[in-house]
Order: sequence, then structure tokens, then C-alpha cells
Amino acid sequence: MKHSLMCAFATSVLSLFAMTDFASAQTTTKTKTLNNETTGAKKVLIAYFSQSGNTRAMAKQIKSATGGDLFEIVPLKAYPKEYKVLVDLAKDEIGKGYKPELKSKIDNLSQYDVIFVGSPNWWSTIAPPVATFLSLARFEGKTIVPFMTHGGGGQAHMVADMKKLCPGATFLKALPISGSSVKEAQPEVTKWVTELKLAK
Ligand SMILES: Cc1cc2nc3c(=O)[nH]c(=O)nc-3n(C[C@H](O)[C@H](O)[C@H](O)COP(=O)(O)O)c2cc1C
Repeated sequence: MKHSLMCAFATSVLSLFAMTDFASAQTTTKTKTLNNETTGAKKVLIAYFSQSGNTRAMAKQIKSATGGDLFEIVPLKAYPKEYKVLVDLAKDEIGKGYKPELKSKIDNLSQYDVIFVGSPNWWSTIAPPVATFLSLARFEGKTIVPFMTHGGGGQAHMVADMKKLCPGATFLKALPISGSSVKEAQPEVTKWVTELKLAK
């Protein structure tokens, strides 16, 4: 009788230990989850090229929605102001796959997790300075979010062309905005950024 009582006591003590262990394992998991959430804040960069201001306006809207840092991609040699000359030069550069030299490089790209990359639609693709920007750095393991302004042609094959220049990067959903409606685009930009879970 005494022996069976002892056995019952020992079993209860053991199961109590087991339960405590289980509880502490649960606490550990919870803490880990919380830690992941705490350190989960993504560092955002918004890099863009803009010839006539539309893509710059969109980049600023993305900054106000995400709180990210802005970086303007500027070619060393400015593009001509005259529209027809610019359109012909752009066609020639894109046809040749020319990548113009940039005024400044971003040297701390590694600190960013998410990089919004913006360009005007030029001949259905990205403007050559954006191609230079994407070719200069390594985007493996980074998340790229393309954005663009256009004159009616939408994003055309801009995203596909960006992907070719950034092997190993993860691409999120792009947002094309018509250049003529970019001034009123803040609500659409904020909605898109929120859906991507990148709002500040
Ligand atoms: C050289 C050049 C080529 C363009 N090609 C296209 C095109 O193929 N499709 C289109 O929808 N818009 C085209 N556009 C219009 C621009 O994409 C549009 O005006 C854009 O908003 C300009 O952006 P930005 O002000 O940031 O430079 C072109 C504009 C230029 C200057």
C-alpha cells in the first residue's frame, strides 16, 4: 500500500516536471516569436531616376508611406531637355544596351532589406541609368519593389527587364502610375505599400 502511494507520488512529481518543461518550452517559443517581430522592422531604400519629375513625385509618396531613405539615380551626363532629341537618344541607348555612368553610387546598400526601384517607362523598358544602378550592386537576398510612371503604356516589360539584372532577388508586386495622375496618387501608393506590409 505504502509502496503504491510512493509510486503515485513519484508519477505526479514527474508529470509536474514534464508540464513545467512543456510550459517553459512554450514560453521560449513565444519569446522567440516576439523577438522576430521586434527585429522584423525592415530597412527601406527608395532608389529612382526621373527626367521630368513624375517618378520623383512617386518616390516621395513612397517615402511618406514607408519612412524609407531616398536615393536619386543621376547620370553623370545629363540627358537633353529637348523631347525629340531625348526620345531618339533613349531609343539608341536602349537598343545598344548602353549603361551610362552615374554621378554617385550608393555604398551602404547592404544595410537595406527592401529596395524600391523606380523608373519612367522609356520605350517600354527601364531608363538606362536604372539599368546601370541595378548592374552595379548585388541584390541577391534582397527584396526589390519596382515602381514606374508612364505615358499610357503601363509597366510594359520593365519588371521582366529589372529581373534579368538582379538574379537572386525577390520581387514584390510593382505599381505603375500614369505620369499625368501622379500628383493625386498618394492614396493608391499608400494602399499598395500597406498591402505589401511595408507601411511605416
Ligand atoms: C525617352 C522617353 C521614352 C518614353 N517611352 C514611353 C513608352 O514607351 N511608353 C509610355 O507609356 N511612356 C513613355 N514615355 C513617357 C514617360 O514614361 C512618362 O512621361 C513618365 O512619367 C516620365 O517620368 P519622369 O517625369 O520621372 O521622367 C517616354 C518618355 C520619354 C522621355
